Amino acid sequence: MGIRYREAERAFHLQGPNTSYIIQLNDRGVPVHAYWGRKIREENLKGMLVCTERSSFSPNPYPEDRSVSFDTLPQEYPAYGGSDFRHPAYQVQLDNGSTVTEFACTAHRIFSGKPGLEGLPSTYAEREEEAQTLELTLKDELSGLEAVLSYTVFADHDAIARSVRLTNGGNAPLRLLRAMSASVDFNRDSFRMLQLSGSWARERDLYGRELVPGMQSVESRRGSSSHQHNPFVALVSPDAGEDRGEVYGFSLVYSGSFVAQAEVDQFKTTRVSVGINPFDFEWLLEPGESFQTPEAVLVYSAEGLGAMSRTYHRLYRSRLCRGAHRDRTRPVLVNNWEATYFQFNADKIESIARVGRELGIELFVLDDGWFGRRDSDNCSLGDWKVDLRKLPGGLEDLAARVNRLDMQFGLWFEPEMVSPDSDLYRAHPDWCLHVPGRRRTEGRQQLILDLSRRDVCDYLIEAVGAVLRSAPISYVKWDMNRNMTEIGSALLPPQRQRETAHRYMLGLYRVMETITSQFPDILFESCSGGGGRFDPGMLYYMPQTWTSDNTDAVHRLRIQYGTSLVYPVSAMGAHVSAVPNHQTGRITSLKTRGDVAMSGNFGYELDLTQMTDEEKAEVKEQVERYKQIRHVVQFGEFYRLRSPFEGSDAAWMAVAEDGAEAFAVHVGVLAEPNAPLDWLRLKGLDPDARYRVEGSGEVYGGDQLMYAGLPIPRASGDYESHVWRLVRL
Ligand code: DGJ
Repeated sequence: MGIRYREAERAFHLQGPNTSYIIQLNDRGVPVHAYWGRKIREENLKGMLVCTERSSFSPNPYPEDRSVSFDTLPQEYPAYGGSDFRHPAYQVQLDNGSTVTEFACTAHRIFSGKPGLEGLPSTYAEREEEAQTLELTLKDELSGLEAVLSYTVFADHDAIARSVRLTNGGNAPLRLLRAMSASVDFNRDSFRMLQLSGSWARERDLYGRELVPGMQSVESRRGSSSHQHNPFVALVSPDAGEDRGEVYGFSLVYSGSFVAQAEVDQFKTTRVSVGINPFDFEWLLEPGESFQTPEAVLVYSAEGLGAMSRTYHRLYRSRLCRGAHRDRTRPVLVNNWEATYFQFNADKIESIARVGRELGIELFVLDDGWFGRRDSDNCSLGDWKVDLRKLPGGLEDLAARVNRLDMQFGLWFEPEMVSPDSDLYRAHPDWCLHVPGRRRTEGRQQLILDLSRRDVCDYLIEAVGAVLRSAPISYVKWDMNRNMTEIGSALLPPQRQRETAHRYMLGLYRVMETITSQFPDILFESCSGGGGRFDPGMLYYMPQTWTSDNTDAVHRLRIQYGTSLVYPVSAMGAHVSAVPNHQTGRITSLKTRGDVAMSGNFGYELDLTQMTDEEKAEVKEQVERYKQIRHVVQFGEFYRLRSPFEGSDAAWMAVAEDGAEAFAVHVGVLAEPNAPLDWLRLKGLDPDARYRVEGSGEVYGGDQLMYAGLPIPRASGDYESHVWRLVRL
């Protein structure tokens, strides 16, 4: 790992363990993108950067050199208004109304470690030797606008973290219209673009498409990263698969509206840019003020998607997630949402917890409905006072009752919301996002608190903090159940109204930073109607996320498989729920539901008191098994074996960090008559080691398990699952 600067050529060579990223400053100081890909020992830039004269439709900024046009030059942070007709990385409007700027590098700095981003989540280095950072300072002479482009490489991860800080160094106000976190120019278009898209209860389906000339993008304009599109795209070479081919991943550490786009131009080059969505975005920069973009994490893999995912998993698990729970195995929980919805009382809760404890479950989570007068989803959000009708002894009493069972107690909140039917709204009708005189559109009969306001954020910190101090609460589920409409703030002046959505995110991040540091021992799980905000930004504050409101074991194969492209298993909540499943109506066996949920942070979300003795015995066994394998599943290396997007089955496995154990899962979807025999080839094992399969006691070589595979028992029905726990001898 390291960053090398060659003065003679003004070239920066950033090296990760297996990656090179090369930048050159041209003779006017424009940072030119020379290379990103497999590691190169020593660069000769003559072979990388080739400029040739094109037609007059690619104009030339330097009259003496007709081989240079910004229209063809691969750049690191392209401007708008000159000879580049592709999408720029940034755009500002000057005081004179013009939007033309041009950056040149005026200074650079290379140093050990990685600085944090003010007010925003980001990956980090715990020790200086773990990372090196390059900062390029660019300046537009005429306006005084400055940008510091930041690039960090890591000693242990083939990832590059990029972000930009823009400062108005001039004397007149500037309006920022666009500020991408990263822009990369590839000298080819022979890629497929992968994305993770879907909807509520159908999050992160994996889609791929061939790049074609023009723009292809995913974006959110919803004020959160969204169920519809995850803030991630990858460009992959045509031959790429799980274990082969080139992959370039782009993941944005941000939880608000974003765009990730790939533009193929007339010369079959591709410009990828990611950042805050410029749609309806604007930021006023008064002289001396700065704007910090979120961080984009770029991952290169020469060995397919599997290796890309494992890089993201390791980096996000260990250097994005923080806090006491980062490296701790996560408890098995039971949540009462699908068991009771809003209809419960303290006795009912205790009865579920009691059975849970008998079955080995470690944490009880009280979901929605414990506060205000919330008997349905039409009131009380904002009134974070316990409902004494349901819980006469308050939260303290209930938590004590659960604790007496030797179980931890967890609690649901939806802090960012306010119900029109709430004391909070009646007292502060201007505390929600809104535009004067316009409709206040409700979603699930609720409005969104205006977290661009400091007073509203401070109120939240106080209100949530008071509840957390009132009882022994070990876990919090932080929910958020609608997207932004009529985005405006009562406190911002007209020229700053279009800052509201991003200011909301900054406010939310401040609230989360404050609360999670005030309560360092609480395990926080974020949620947005399931996976509507499953993004790296949230993981910085809360090390796990409720993956989806869809708990159907069969559909979960797709959701968990898609999610695993970027996010570590330790971040994914996965629960066994009742059948017929509440989202799909499907009936699957308890075994299959358990086997699928065990590939995440395991739990139950059903009324345990309604189970038969036989079912309880099975749950007890599942919980025991999970406790044996959770360190492997949550913190091991993850390998996808079969894709539910390609065939009628799915399989994956995890190998412990020290290689001593592995856990593999196979789930068939529809059974076939007279089906062919089938073997599951494993991955990530030591070919020279021998492994015992727990249960059968059979011993196989790692080479056999990977190259010949394990026989999959023939399915006797739909949705049949099998798991194997392997122990290295
Ligand atoms: C949406 C969440 O995803 C569910 O798990 C549950 O907590 C409900 N909200 C409660 O309203």
